[in-house]
Amino acid sequence: MQVLGIDVGGSGIKGAPVDTRTGKLLAERFRIKTPKGAEPKPVARVVAEIARAFKWKGLIGIGFPAPIKAGIAMMAANVSDKWIGLNADDLFTQVTGCDCTMINDADAAGLAEMKFGAGKGQPGTVIMITLGTGIGTAIFHGGKLLPNTEFGHLDMNGKDAERRASDAVRQREDLSWKKYAKRLNKYLATMEKLFWPDLFIIGGGISKQSEKFIPLLKIETPIVPAQFLNEAGIVGAALAAKKRS
Ligand code: BGC
Repeated sequence: MQVLGIDVGGSGIKGAPVDTRTGKLLAERFRIKTPKGAEPKPVARVVAEIARAFKWKGLIGIGFPAPIKAGIAMMAANVSDKWIGLNADDLFTQVTGCDCTMINDADAAGLAEMKFGAGKGQPGTVIMITLGTGIGTAIFHGGKLLPNTEFGHLDMNGKDAERRASDAVRQREDLSWKKYAKRLNKYLATMEKLFWPDLFIIGGGISKQSEKFIPLLKIETPIVPAQFLNEAGIVGAALAAKKRS
């Protein structure tokens, strides 16, 4: 089945049609900058523009950077507060004219990696961590997702972990890979002590450069980059929409 997967991020909104049987993108992904403030209507217009670019008429899955319950964003860390309590499934369905399903962005990325990528066949506890504007987490056990975990907001020295160890912070503070790896290590070591996972998968924009920081990490748990790199969110959003249909 073909589903349009869209990943709404803090800096860009990206989409591509996905073959949900194989996890392959069926066309080059299309990216538009996230409108300033990331308010509902401007974001919805961008989503509609991406759908139009592919002349899309079918299902759309949308990965969104917030916990999502029945199409409603429950919280907003890196997007406008106007999303909170809004039925975003309905808004996106209205503007695109297609049946839209929202899912948390990290959960989407995790679903793709568990089905086709780095977590495939892993029976134990797997934690997908996306490092981008924020920090997203998706936790699986026996291949099953515990949805909407928000461990990017764990406290790290009196601040949200994502305000210390996200990729956006690395870029903003111009941290060397060594310094950044030290911070990330601290975050991962905390997650390790809380969950005793069998595998960490690192996704998000930074996963393209995994060889620069993964070898510097000193945690016990095996840690690998996402096989879909930053496209995991697009693929997983498509899988989530198909599952709901
Ligand atoms: C949000 C999460 C999201 C993560 C990555 C966090 O700020 O609260 O829902 O998964 O950023 O985008």
